Amino acid sequence: MIDDPVLVNDWHPVASVDELASGGPRGARLLGEDIVLWRSGSEYFAWRDLCVHRGTRLSLGKVIDGAALECPYHGWTYARDGRCVLMPAHPEQTPPAKACVDAYRAAAAHGVVWVTLGVGASPIPSFELLSDPAYHVLLAGPYRVQASGPRVVENFLDVGHFPFVHEGVLGDRSRPEIADYEAEITPSGVVATGVKVFQPDPYATGRGSTVTYTYRVHRPLSASFIKHGELSFGMLLSVTPHDAVDSSAWMWMAMNYEPDSPMIEFQDRIFAQDRPILESQRPELLPLDLQAELHLRSDRTAIAYRRWLREIGMRTGVA
Ligand code: FES
Ligand SMILES: [Fe+2]
Repeated sequence: MIDDPVLVNDWHPVASVDELASGGPRGARLLGEDIVLWRSGSEYFAWRDLCVHRGTRLSLGKVIDGAALECPYHGWTYARDGRCVLMPAHPEQTPPAKACVDAYRAAAAHGVVWVTLGVGASPIPSFELLSDPAYHVLLAGPYRVQASGPRVVENFLDVGHFPFVHEGVLGDRSRPEIADYEAEITPSGVVATGVKVFQPDPYATGRGSTVTYTYRVHRPLSASFIKHGELSFGMLLSVTPHDAVDSSAWMWMAMNYEPDSPMIEFQDRIFAQDRPILESQRPELLPLDLQAELHLRSDRTAIAYRRWLREIGMRTGVA
């Protein structure tokens, strides 16, 4: 497991609820740790993906009667509390107390299963628009990307790239200027307000307008924005840190209008434009030393994000 108390104690998205509809099991990787996910009724389980008998991956096994997980190798069967309850070669023998998996905490929220490898010190990230009845909510991704989690979050906070990476959709090369805006570190993360940009197609409706963004960074790998103009569109991003430079981006979109084009495909196209940029960035680890890269006034949100990561002692994906 990666040695990073901040992320170890955070909640991370690992699978959609739909992927566990049949109960599982399913493997996932989080912070350098292989885990097995499965479901029993409405309860989700996340264990170390390793049978204590011979180290086989439990994610290759089977859920038995929706209530236990069977190892694929010799059929050792683990109950919901993680204890082995059956060793089929010796059915009469009570498994020793040591025959027990390492269990983590798992919970479902926003259609996704979240896991913490530690205590789950802060709540699962939330975003007010996801529970606002005036908004349609859709989940895009997860998008796997060979980049560090903090590089992915910083890209999400960055408006200066719109005219170049998302030309014709989120930006216009002939209008690349960014007016001054405010960004600050607050007790609950980073907030940037009054971020104004002209967008050729801000809502995937085919009509251009100037929109104003409010960005918030809730947790080191979770951030949101709301953009207001003639309509309102918001997004929550949460990045799964599989390893230091291997991530998945989950993006919940919320809009107060009936989208007239397929929004998931729209987001797929946008992320496909960001991916080669993210995978090309060097160093791969986000430098927290502000002297290490050059910054402009329009990079205020990124500067605040880097400062905040440093303050809270983030270690993964940063240098
Ligand atoms: S390795 Fe799992 S039962 Fe033997
Ligand atoms: Fe982008």
